[in-house]
Amino acid sequence: MYTKLIINNEEIETSQYSSSLNPMDGSVVGNVSIATIENVDNAFSSAKQAFKTWKNTSAHERMYKLELVAGALLQKKNEIAALLCSEISKPMKDCIKEVERSAEYILFTAHTYRTIEGRLVDGDRMPGINHLQKTAIVTYEPLGVVLAISPFNYPINLAVTKIAPALATGNTVVFKPASAGAISAYLMMKIFSEIMPAGVVNFITGKSSEIGDYMLSHKEVDMIAFTGSTQIGRHIQELAKCPVYLELGGKDAALVLADADVAKAANEIVKGGFSYSAQRCTAVKRVVVEDSVADELIGNILTRVFQLKVGKAEEDADITALIDLKSMGYVMELINDAKNKGAELLCGGYSEGSVVYPTVLDHVTKEMRIYSEEPFGPVLPIIRVQNMEEALSTVNDSKYGLQSDVFTQDINKAMYLANNIEAGTVQINAKSDRGPDNFPFPGIKDSGMGNAGLKDALLSMMKTKVIVINL
Ligand code: G3H
Repeated sequence: MYTKLIINNEEIETSQYSSSLNPMDGSVVGNVSIATIENVDNAFSSAKQAFKTWKNTSAHERMYKLELVAGALLQKKNEIAALLCSEISKPMKDCIKEVERSAEYILFTAHTYRTIEGRLVDGDRMPGINHLQKTAIVTYEPLGVVLAISPFNYPINLAVTKIAPALATGNTVVFKPASAGAISAYLMMKIFSEIMPAGVVNFITGKSSEIGDYMLSHKEVDMIAFTGSTQIGRHIQELAKCPVYLELGGKDAALVLADADVAKAANEIVKGGFSYSAQRCTAVKRVVVEDSVADELIGNILTRVFQLKVGKAEEDADITALIDLKSMGYVMELINDAKNKGAELLCGGYSEGSVVYPTVLDHVTKEMRIYSEEPFGPVLPIIRVQNMEEALSTVNDSKYGLQSDVFTQDINKAMYLANNIEAGTVQINAKSDRGPDNFPFPGIKDSGMGNAGLKDALLSMMKTKVIVINL
């Protein structure tokens, strides 16, 4: 299959393509268009032009169209999921879930937007203003053109979490996915463009090295919504001349206190630490445990890790190929560094092609790179501490602040830790997770800026307009 660009609802062929490879066996899944600077300019001017009418299209009509997209997406669920599975080696059941979750997200976006209304503010609450002398009509307006950029690990869902709120609020979109996963994203964007008026959504693929910076600093961009690495996120911040939403990396810790339900904690840690081979910003990437229960916790963790199936995404294996050989190489580098500096390898520690076998490392210390770096692969470092205060300072000893998890049966300790952990979200007695999608999803420190989560995303894509009636 060859993808095309979608500009002003026309499918545009390019003269150059890059191959999208199945991470498991290197076979060619399809070919992805490489856009030129001229294509990028056309996409932005098409979005700008469409904005003039889309922003004035009734909310009712915009929501109706979004609901049509959700329905059409579900109809193509199996086709898109199969492509996702071979493009990014995500277990098939999770690919199906990703498409279903995205359709649900679009529907709930439309539902939530319908509940957001303007308001009247009476001026006479402040001194010196007479009754009805000044009344403000407060409404919300779209920003303009939103540049949405999605990562390889959720080519459908982390596109929809940007595109749906942008369209609901009356913005138009230029969307660029990561190259891995771009074919699945193309199928989804065909659906959007079949339902939306011309120019409302535009789809660009290509080499970031050629068009990336040009897109980020384009004069027609009114907001950038990005999910991806911290390094690229920081680069976006430097270039952008508009509001940005950044969802970046994480080093989520599972903090296990001596009084925790250890079996439950182990269960959550293994699910959180290894699902989709830990290629998730919210994967559990550190275990910080009180020494007195560390051996028991590790025994429980290992029992579950040994049950993980390593193999093909099509067969729903738990651990599949990482997105490319470079990622595998990086993860192995972190494992070997830890081993060389004295960590105890409890399982795994080897790779085959792009597959890294599930790895658990005990006695991890600050000097080891795995203590602070984000592997984005199936390796779980265990850091032993002597007490709760040491656990808290260890968890906070990170440049990231996405989520962290606290396992304890004492609600007072749980709340103390939750209030003092430096993270956007703290989970009590469960693994890190972005969902349910109606929750806000903030990241602090190097994990991001701005708010996602359904209602927050909608609000972030609008500006407040005030009209004052003076009598
Ligand atoms: O990779 C970043 C995603 O936002 C993680 O989402 O918790 O649903 O896997 P998730």
